[in-house]
Parts: sequence; structure tokens; C-alpha cells
Amino acid sequence: MEKSVQMGTNRTGIDMSPLQSKVMISGAAAATPTGGSEAELHELGKEYIRNAGVIGTVPLPGTLRGALKAMKDKLSGKHTEILLNKMGERLAFERSGVRVYECFIAKCEAAAAAGTLPAAVDLDLLRQFCIEEAQHFALLRDVLAGLGADPTAQTPDADVAAVASLGLMKVIQDPRTSVTQSLEAMLSIEMTDNAAWELLVRLAREMTMEAIGDQFHQAEEQEDRHLSTIRHWYEAAVREEAGLDAAPGTH
Ligand SMILES: [Fe+2]
Repeated sequence: MEKSVQMGTNRTGIDMSPLQSKVMISGAAAATPTGGSEAELHELGKEYIRNAGVIGTVPLPGTLRGALKAMKDKLSGKHTEILLNKMGERLAFERSGVRVYECFIAKCEAAAAAGTLPAAVDLDLLRQFCIEEAQHFALLRDVLAGLGADPTAQTPDADVAAVASLGLMKVIQDPRTSVTQSLEAMLSIEMTDNAAWELLVRLAREMTMEAIGDQFHQAEEQEDRHLSTIRHWYEAAVREEAGLDAAPGTH
């Protein structure tokens, strides 16, 4: 059984040294800036926000094709670039998702070899999820190309999502983190992924791209399974570490 948490010589708490903690607290009070107020600091922050540009732009396809052209013709006032932005985001997320799964699988294989893999984790199923993430990437690539968009372009929300997931990827890539700790990071990734696919299905259907919406719906169903499985594994792994029985009623 793996142990993410061990009792040890953790010295981070203030109780380690009551005397020095008093010096630290008085030092922190003395170091408080006196040249400005909190309100002024907020004002400065707002000035930065007012003067900042956008984080990126969506390259609109030179020639509209297929469903995108049909939609443009049918609906005026709908912003196709939003859908392209979100598809580009999902494509980038799924591509890096494959790398994340590969990394997590390596961690689980190492744990299995050491006899510490949490009992709930199924390596074959994990490999299947990794294949599905790659398939979702390929689906988005094909759909974007079919619409006349460039699947290699990094859209603004792809950029933002990549920055947001940096910490989660670091947790999984760190060789010191346990399978259980990595499962918690995987859970965050899959929750975000799941909500994003749900939204993508609705956007595509409401923008009259029913066939694409149906394809996305199949991916969404697979993502539902990823999320419920990872969530269950995470809870089961924590319970196992705590010496508790598997949660009743979970699959
Ligand atoms: Fe997934």
C-alpha cells in the first residue's frame, strides 16, 4: 500500500519555535509598507487591467467550409469565432491530456512494480482513457480542418487553459508525488474537461452544427466515464491509505 502522508520531521509550523515566531510576527508588522494604502494598490491594479491588451486572437479561416459556412449563411449575429476559440482550447487540452495520462500511467506502473498501486486503480482502463484523449484530439483536429480553420493555431482560450493547468501538470510530473496525490490533480483535470465538453456540445448544437454536436456528444460520454472513474479511484485510494473500507455504493 502506498503512503502519501508520513509522520516526520516537518518544521514548517509556527509551533516549532515559539520564541522565533514572536520575532517573525513583530518583523512582519515592522515591514508593512507605509508609503501607500491598500485602496491605492487596488487602484493601481485596475489601471493595469484598463490598459492591458487581449491575450490573443482567433484566426478566422480564409475560406469558410462545411458547417461553418452553412451556419454563417443561416444565422446572422452569431459569433463563430467563439466556437472556434473553444474548439481550439479543447484540442490543446486533449493533446496535453495525452501527455498527462502517459506521465500518470508511468507513475502507476512504477507503483505497481513496487507493490504500492492503490487497489482500485486499473492500469488497462487508464491506458484506454489515454487512447480516448488522443481520439478526442483527432476528432477536434478533423472538425476544425473541415470548417476551414487551422487546427495548429493556438486560440486565446487554449493559451489561458494551458496556463491554468500548469500547476496540475507539475503535480503529476513530480516523481515524489504519490499516485493518490496525482489522482487528485487528475480529478481537477477531468472535471474541467467534462464541463468543457458539455459546453461544446451545446454550443455546436445551438449554432446549428448538429452533426458536429453529435460527434462531440460521443466524446462527452467517454469523458463522463473518465470523470466518474478517476473520482472513485481517488476516494478509494485515500480510504485505502487511511485504512478504511472501500466506500459503499461506489462503482
Ligand atoms: Fe478525459
